[in-house]
Amino acid sequence: MKSTMRKQIAAANWKMNLTYQQGEKLLDEIFHARISLAPHQQVIFAVPFPYLIMAKSEVADETGYNIAAQNCNEKQSGAYTGEVSAEMLKSIGIKYCIVGHSERREYYLETNKMLADKVNICLQNNITPIFCCGEALSIREKNQQNEFVQQQLEESLFHLPEENLRQVIIAYEPIWAIGTGRTASTQQAQEMHQYIRSILAGKYGQEVADQVSVLYGGSVKAGNAAEIFSCPDVDGGLVGGASLVAQDFIQIIKALKQ
Ligand code: PGA
Repeated sequence: MKSTMRKQIAAANWKMNLTYQQGEKLLDEIFHARISLAPHQQVIFAVPFPYLIMAKSEVADETGYNIAAQNCNEKQSGAYTGEVSAEMLKSIGIKYCIVGHSERREYYLETNKMLADKVNICLQNNITPIFCCGEALSIREKNQQNEFVQQQLEESLFHLPEENLRQVIIAYEPIWAIGTGRTASTQQAQEMHQYIRSILAGKYGQEVADQVSVLYGGSVKAGNAAEIFSCPDVDGGLVGGASLVAQDFIQIIKALKQ
């Protein structure tokens, strides 16, 4: 298995945290560490909308570092007060967008169908979706996590032709591990990541499945990142809380597979 051929990605999800000044300082501190990335490694900062342009200019010269939006609207444009379109993101040079984070599914009632539309509109605007999936604790307790995640992938991604699916980054985030300090064990993470890759292989073939990066999210910390990332089918992480502390996120970047 050529896992090192896949992009290994540390993605920071700031969520609704930090002021502009704090965000700028955090990026400065991380860049001061001068971590040089191998060609297969990548770092992505998903920052709040008002900070996108600042963050873009901060990463301008840093090879392998990119900026993402945390969400976009599924429609092209129009009378949707307060919303941000994929075309707007494209017009300021944004190349990545988180789609379907569990917090958006839960608090803003995003459905698999709506997320299929968000994936489409991102791809139409040359934006790579970082597509989130993952089960709640009640589903894991019934041991139905595989079927649940499979349905999320089928209903939001599997309409895509192969060339588009290749562009998607998947993030598996068990909801019971997000912000709780409780991580999936490496065995639970590896099992699900392997399962996700097997469903991708069933639909698109092994070569495509081997090429798609599948990140793990849910209480990734400086102290556990290396262990989680060492799983053969885990290609880095989507990191919330620990991405807000420069030294922690620096350690997490350094934990990416070499
Ligand atoms: P966490 O969040 O690292 O704080 O658990 C992860 C996420 O929600 O993306």
